[in-house]
Amino acid sequence: MAQALDEIKIGGLGASRRRVEDNRFIRGKGNYIDDIVLPGMLHMEILRSPLAHARINSIDISKAWDIPGVRLVLTGEMMASRNLAWMPTLSYDTQAVLATDKVRFQGQEVACVIADDPYIAKDACEAIVVDYEPLPAIVSPQQAVAEGAPLIRDDKENQHDNVVYDWEVGDKEGTDRAFAAADVISELELHYPRSHPSPLECCGSIADFNRATSKLTVYMTTQAPHIIRAAVALVAELPEQMIRIISPDLGGGFGNKVPVYPGYVMSILASILLERPVKWIEDRTGNLISTGFARDIYLRGEMALRQDGKILGVRMRTDADHGAFFSDAQPSKFKIGLMHSAFSCYDIPAAHLTARGTYTNKAPGGVAYRCSFRVTEAMFFQERMVQAAADDLGIDQAEFRRINFVRDDDFPHRTPFGFLTDSGQYGKCLDVGLEAVGYQDFLRQKEEAKREGRLLGIGISTMTEPLGAGNSREYDILGIKMFDSAELRVHMTGKALLRTGAKTQGQGHETTWAQIVAHELGIPAEDVTVEEGDTDTAPFGMGTYASRSTPVAGAAVAMVSRKVRAKARKLAAHLLEVSEDDIEWELGRFYVRSAPDRGVTIQECAMAAYSNMPDGMEPGLENNAYYDPPNLTWPFACYIATVEVDPETGVWDVLNVVAVDDCGVRINPMIVEGQIMGGLTEAYAMSSMQFITFDADGNCVGSNYMDYLLPTAWETPGFELHEVVTPCPHHPIGAKGIGECATVGGPAAFVNAVMDALRDTGARNIDMPLLPDRVYEALTERHDVSGAPPVRSDDG
Ligand code: CDP
Repeated sequence: MAQALDEIKIGGLGASRRRVEDNRFIRGKGNYIDDIVLPGMLHMEILRSPLAHARINSIDISKAWDIPGVRLVLTGEMMASRNLAWMPTLSYDTQAVLATDKVRFQGQEVACVIADDPYIAKDACEAIVVDYEPLPAIVSPQQAVAEGAPLIRDDKENQHDNVVYDWEVGDKEGTDRAFAAADVISELELHYPRSHPSPLECCGSIADFNRATSKLTVYMTTQAPHIIRAAVALVAELPEQMIRIISPDLGGGFGNKVPVYPGYVMSILASILLERPVKWIEDRTGNLISTGFARDIYLRGEMALRQDGKILGVRMRTDADHGAFFSDAQPSKFKIGLMHSAFSCYDIPAAHLTARGTYTNKAPGGVAYRCSFRVTEAMFFQERMVQAAADDLGIDQAEFRRINFVRDDDFPHRTPFGFLTDSGQYGKCLDVGLEAVGYQDFLRQKEEAKREGRLLGIGISTMTEPLGAGNSREYDILGIKMFDSAELRVHMTGKALLRTGAKTQGQGHETTWAQIVAHELGIPAEDVTVEEGDTDTAPFGMGTYASRSTPVAGAAVAMVSRKVRAKARKLAAHLLEVSEDDIEWELGRFYVRSAPDRGVTIQECAMAAYSNMPDGMEPGLENNAYYDPPNLTWPFACYIATVEVDPETGVWDVLNVVAVDDCGVRINPMIVEGQIMGGLTEAYAMSSMQFITFDADGNCVGSNYMDYLLPTAWETPGFELHEVVTPCPHHPIGAKGIGECATVGGPAAFVNAVMDALRDTGARNIDMPLLPDRVYEALTERHDVSGAPPVRSDDG
């Protein structure tokens, strides 16, 4: 009799297993960077620029040195003498570690102090006197390219304007032809405002250089420890085996912990100079004003339409505000990330995108905040444009989507910008969503409400997005190909240790990776320990961002498990004294095909690997796998929100939110639902309240949690979740990414709902966040409301 294990009972695929990491988190026993204390550790604080753009005439550090307990004061000049005043960025630009000539954004690092405790270091920072000569600040791409605009990056040879790049993709001629054939051309212009990933734990590092061994150990809040090690090896010219990057528990990352920040570099240099461990812990304002921002992009688009609702072509123009340094990470080949993944779920014959990036006097931005390199901006624009086009044609917005969706039998499908989507049931997801929200009923209620002077609106957002870079043919960062890895060691008792090149920041990898091993090997998930984040022990990987963990590292976990199973099979044949060809596998057990009762468990095979292997077989049961995915994964989502707008105040309330997600096979349904709820919460926050901008002088407005709002459970609406499962055809277990889907697709649902409520005003767009005063202005003035930052009065 076969005795396959019950997969759900052993915590395999599909089990809503409780998160094992929560055992330590809910007890306050997490090991975050600030929990780590090393013997003899010193503390570093950073002096930041109060001005957005200014020449530095002089820096006087003498009073800081006079404070007892100060061990080192670093300025740009001192960094320059070691050739460390500038560092390379992940986008082939340079970034100042400490300012030498000029400051280029408010909050830029100007000096730092290392002292016996953080309070002394802070006091000493305040004793540093900097003589600044203010320069006019640039706070938008429009200002950056205006005639006579001051040159921000005058440090760069051959940089004569504020343009970072001009880039284009798509079929220009084909798109022009589509527009010539159009019955109707729909247009939309909007600004996706700056937002900040704002993880609850800010950034930090502890550098510990040991002169005796020449080994540099750095504890660091990073989502990509191996990339950091490579960067340190190249910049500091240290051999890799002498550098150990440890990313301990992270209190969220959301893309904010991918770039290399000056604080990390200075703590490393300070530790090398002082031969003591040096800790740097960033404060909240430091995090909000100086670390990687997201979005801040102006989008203009036109859609060529046939009267019957068919989209013939799309033109997009983007103007991205990168701040003072182009430092976000994205695949080298693409300047504006994966912006050209827009419209991938629609069957559109031709599209063309032009993109320009500019320097401004703002903190470096454009990071992928819970998204795959600009996919959030792409999908927001796509779904806002789709609603505007449906309205222009007078076609129901759900029907308009259905007319243009890629059909289920049309995969693989080449998108208008050249991606290859491979699976999905878009119409079905939309139907499930419409049914759940009671679409027809709501449309009737909306009409009734209108007669009573009440404003109801419904917004739909449907999208497929590319998750899981690479494949390595197309995706690299700084030339390093995008793949990932896993290493699995099964001990003799059948317990296992799994290490991957990914790095969890709260997504629950310790739980779900063990579930993949359980699925492949039948080893109960509770018997599998998962470790990530230490470059001395984990295999090389590109880290966790862009929801790439499950598509890439998760696939590597399945593949290494299969390699281990292949060896276990040989051991089983040896133990059962039959040929390998006569062996069958069922979950957790090999058996003889002709005699199913004769079998051995995976644990018995593990014991044999150390105690009873056949002659000539290498002992042990372990392996590794590097996984280079053949394609991205393409999850699909349908988010629908209904709202009521108060015509007296512009305040809007969410009535209902329905989410239908298809992320292929779900490893842990409970974790997936948590990811979707978290993403929808962020989507709601961005669309309704999260406001971080700059005044005309480049002062950051929104530099603390009094101004930059994070919704709590109190403000957050409830979400009703549904699923459709279309397995990924190339992922070993059929999974697609999910981590960012709701953050990416959610905002358009909320904004579309409010714009639907305001449809009779003629206003086509209100920029996020849809604060009540903006909604009120659109209602009463009956025009679009821009969220672009103000310009200086001398700019006109
Ligand atoms: O890269 P990141 O971990 O942020 O995103 P992800 O790969 O989409 O995974 C987020 C979490 O959801 C992880 O714990 C995954 O293992 C889990 N997940 C899942 O259970 N089933 C899926 N089909 C996708 C993700």
